[in-house]
Parts: sequence; C-alpha cells; structure tokens
Amino acid sequence: MRKHWLLAVLLLCLTSTFSGFYLLHSSRSALINKFNMAVRLAVPYSTQKATTDFTTSLSTMTTLQSQKTLFINVSSGEMCNEVSNFVFVKTHKTGSTTLRSLTCRYGYFRNLSFLLGKQGVIGHLNQLNLVWTQNESNLLPPIGVSVEDHLNHRNYNISNIHVRYNGELIRKLMYRASDLKYFTILRNPTNQWLSQFQYFGQYRKAGLSLSSLPQTLIRYLKKLKERTGGFNNQLRDLGIHSSIAYNSSWLNETIPQIDKEYDLVLIMEHFDESLILLKKLLCWSFKDILYVKKRQQPNPLKINEATRKEIQKRNVGDEALYDYFLKVFWSKVEDYGPSFQKDLNQFRRMLNETWHMCVGKTVAEKSQDNYRYLETYVTDNSSEFCWALVNTNFQMDIEIVKRQGKTSDDRWPGLLKQSERKPVVKPQRRFPLRKGYKRKPIH
Ligand SMILES: *[C@@H]1O[C@H](CO)[C@@H](O)[C@H](O)[C@H]1NC(C)=O
Ligand SMILES: *[C@@H]1O[C@H](CO)[C@@H](O)[C@H](O)[C@H]1NC(C)=O
Ligand SMILES: *[C@@H]1O[C@H](CO)[C@@H](O)[C@H](O)[C@H]1NC(C)=O
Ligand SMILES: *[C@@H]1O[C@H](CO)[C@@H](O)[C@H](O)[C@H]1NC(C)=O
Ligand SMILES: *[C@@H]1O[C@H](CO)[C@@H](O)[C@H](O)[C@H]1NC(C)=O
Ligand SMILES: *[C@@H]1O[C@H](CO)[C@@H](O)[C@H](O)[C@H]1NC(C)=O
Ligand SMILES: *[C@@H]1O[C@H](CO)[C@@H](O)[C@H](O)[C@H]1NC(C)=O
Ligand SMILES: *[C@@H]1O[C@H](CO)[C@@H](O)[C@H](O)[C@H]1NC(C)=O
Repeated sequence: MRKHWLLAVLLLCLTSTFSGFYLLHSSRSALINKFNMAVRLAVPYSTQKATTDFTTSLSTMTTLQSQKTLFINVSSGEMCNEVSNFVFVKTHKTGSTTLRSLTCRYGYFRNLSFLLGKQGVIGHLNQLNLVWTQNESNLLPPIGVSVEDHLNHRNYNISNIHVRYNGELIRKLMYRASDLKYFTILRNPTNQWLSQFQYFGQYRKAGLSLSSLPQTLIRYLKKLKERTGGFNNQLRDLGIHSSIAYNSSWLNETIPQIDKEYDLVLIMEHFDESLILLKKLLCWSFKDILYVKKRQQPNPLKINEATRKEIQKRNVGDEALYDYFLKVFWSKVEDYGPSFQKDLNQFRRMLNETWHMCVGKTVAEKSQDNYRYLETYVTDNSSEFCWALVNTNFQMDIEIVKRQGKTSDDRWPGLLKQSERKPVVKPQRRFPLRKGYKRKPIH
C-alpha cells in the first residue's frame, strides 16, 4: 500500500517536473537584506548563551552561493523556484492550524526538518530558549542529528509552530536564513477575539456561561479595565508589544515595517484565494495546497452591533493591522493577473473532489473546556494521500516529532503509535456533502 503510494507520488513529481519545464542550474549570490528592521521589531526574549557558534555558522552560510534548481515555465515564460525553506508564523484562532497542516504535509513527504520544541503539544514554542551550552537543548534535533548533539540543533527547513515571533532568533535556527520566505495569516479581529475567548475558556474565568454569552458579553466588556482582556493578540503573535496597539502614530510606523518582514500575509476570510497566492510565492503545485479544515467551530457566536463595537474599540491595533493587510492582499490578487479566477476555480474543484475522495465523517468533539470543534476522519479504504490530507488529531505531527527524535513522553498523551490511533470511521455515504453544499468559512 505504502509502496504504491510512494511510487505514485514519485511519478507525479517526475511528470510535473518534466512536462513543460526545463531544468536549469543557477547560482544566486544576492543576499536579501530585508530583515534589518527585525531587530527593532522583535520582542527581546531569552537570548541566553547562544551567540558565538551561530555567528560563525551564519557567516559561513551566507558566503556560500546556494545552488538551486530553477524551473522555467515554458508556456508562460515565468521563472519559478520551488521554496522548501520557510517560516510560517502561526497566529491563534485564524485558520492557522489548517494552513499549518498543509505545510506539515509538504515537509513530511520531502523529509524536511521542522523547528520544534521538545515539550508541549505538537512542539509549539512559546519562547525561543536557545540553551545549548549547558548540554541541553529545548529543541528537537533536525533529521539526522542526534538528540545529544545540541550544538547542531539548528538548520531547520521549516518553522510553522506557534512562537512569539522574533525574527532574529528564528533566523539563527533556520537553514539558508538569508533565503527564507515568510508568511502568516490574519483574521477579522472581532471574530478572532471571540474565537479565542471561547476556545481558551476565558469566558469561564470571567464567570460567564457559553450559552448566555451573546447577552452577557457586553456588560463584561464595559467593566474591563483599560488595556486588559487579551485584545490585539494577532499583533502580539507577530512579536509586537501590546503597548504599541494603543499608540496610533507608533502603529502607523510599525505596520509598514511588519509588511517588509513578510512575503505574504494570508487572510482567513479569503482562505482559498490566499492559498493561490501562497502557491505562487512558494512555486508549489495545486496538490501541495489542498487542505481539509481543522478545528472548525461548528456554531460561531452571534453578537449584536453594540458588542461588536465594544470589541473593536479595544482591538484597535489588530483592526489597523487587519485593514492594512487586507489592502495588501487585494493588491497581490490584482498583481497575480487575469488567471487568478481560473486558478481559483480549478483549485476549488480539486478541493471538492479530494473532499469526496478522502473525508468520511465530520464529528463535533469537545475540548477540555467543553468548547466544541469539528474533527474530520478519513473514509474507509483511503490512500496515504487521504491520511496525510485529513490527519485527524494531529497524526502527522506525531509522525514528524517522532522522526525528529521525540520518544514516548507522558507529558504528551497525544503521542500514539500507528496501531493506537483512533479507528477509522466508516462513512455513512460515499458522498457526504449535500447538494449545493458551500464551504463555510474556516475557523
Ligand atoms: C505554467 O504556466 C501555465 C500557463 O500559463 C500555468 O497554467 C501553470 O500554472 C504555470 N505553472 C507554474 C508552476 O507556474
Ligand atoms: C525520506 O526518508 C525515508 C527514510 O529514510 C526514505 O525512505 C525516503 O525515500 C525519503 N524520501 C525522500 C523524498 O527523500
Ligand atoms: C557537556 O558534555 C561534555 C561532552 O559530553 C562533557 O565533557 C561536559 O562535562 C558536559 N558539561 C556539563 C555541564 O554537563
Ligand atoms: C533542509 O535542511 C538541511 C539541513 O538541515 C539541508 O541539508 C537540506 O538541503 C535542506 N533541504 C532543502 C530542500 O532545502
Ligand atoms: C494613523 O493612520 C490612520 C489611518 O491612516 C489615521 O487615521 C491616523 O490619523 C494616523 N495616526 C497618526 C497619529 O498619524
Ligand atoms: C507613541 O509613539 C511615538 C513614536 O511613534 C512616540 O514618540 C510617543 O512617545 C508614543 N506615545 C506614547 C504615549 O507612548
Ligand atoms: C474496502 O476494503 C474491503 C476489504 O479491506 C473490501 O471488502 C471493500 O469492498 C472495500 N470497499 C470499497 C468501497 O472499496
Ligand atoms: C462539489 O461536487 C458535487 C458533486 O460531486 C456538487 O454537487 C457540488 O455542487 C460541488 N460543490 C462545489 C462547492 O463545487
């Protein structure tokens, strides 16, 4: 089964490489120097005892002229260079788990190394602690490096976990740091705040109940002290101190600087469109950007206009951030050219087909906070492609962390053997979608 699948992928790779493309070799010497702003932007987290080895290795890396294979698209004449080394800054409650899952799939089947923490759920790093000199590391080693070889816990190809973004530190850990692509995803700030308020059980800490939230939320908001309540957390995920959020002139200076750091900022409300832009940026195939929604909220909270206004008032930083990047997003769609709609339609057709082929059942599950989210399961008799697409309950993450040296660990009960995985749920019907089904927005 596995062999057949690998063969199929190999064939696919070969055909898509050779039909319509010429292989060229090219050396790139230009070093992108777009990140000199990052130091100013980044919130200085723990930088302890990590410096000297990195300085040498970074200078060696940057003098190497990277040999890369360039693909020339003969029909369009466009040059395109597949990107395998990138930083996806994962924001909270923005569809980022869905986006992350496709970057995991990309790296998993290409044996790429992920920047991952040793502890915590699926390797998220709340802080980047670079502890090496004490014979310990907080990171899982890249593929082929031993757990003990702490000094070589670096040169990762992909970063796609939750980190409090700190560009300078991440670059120290990544392979080909001067040549990475950076992207992140943002969501309408009111909906994002509402989602995290529920998902992380903050309503309970506030003494509110989920069912009466639409009515009680406004009173809670009006009683909040200024600058409390966990607002502007998309800015925070991007490494911007929350004090900036309330200073309009500082915000106006900082947001264009964030823009310089990212090659693409995806927008959750336009998820498919965003992926078309991502595909172009990374020179990936349609197959690479296929997805099945993760952690979708079945019944988004409905609030009235007054409550929405109250949230917006406190979310000023995230509002400005989102407005800015929504404009950038649409200008990128425009730059893409007239084939955008055609490509989008093709992608949506493929999404529909793979959904029918791979998704068996969608089940509402409860998190520990009683918050419900949807989990999808593969159909019976599905290929490894479907397994990788659907990967229920972070199955692929588990394979990735194991491959990078994570052993059984009781702090993480999610670490299951293949045989211990949840049994596949048989579909009730071959095509579970109703006629006229429209994809709901991602949560
Ligand atoms: C190559 O060009 C064709 C025709 O314009 C287009 O459909 C295809 O997506 C392009 N491929 C890449 C990898 O850019
Ligand atoms: C990835 O690594 C595995 C195990 O070492 C190997 O069998 C497989 O061929 C590799 N795949 C690629 C695409 O390099
Ligand atoms: C770190 O490891 C080296 C080599 O294994 C050993 O000589 C040294 O004593 C260790 N240092 C500490 C602080 O454990
Ligand atoms: C991934 O990173 C390793 C170093 O950890 C490097 O040797 C390899 O070439 C990288 N792969 C790609 C496709 O860039
Ligand atoms: C910041 O930009 C916004 C939108 O362009 C503008 O309304 C506001 O006056 C600016 N603030 C300052 C202090 O310049
Ligand atoms: C707001 O930011 C500007 C820099 O753009 C700074 O000069 C000013 O002191 C800040 N105001 C406050 C109240 O922190
Ligand atoms: C699924 O596989 C079982 C045996 O593993 C087989 O009996 C059954 O016909 C298959 N169903 C489909 C729809 O392929
Ligand atoms: C998905 O495909 C089914 C047929 O298999 C069709 O009825 C449905 O309209 C399609 N949905 C979308 C959104 O294209």
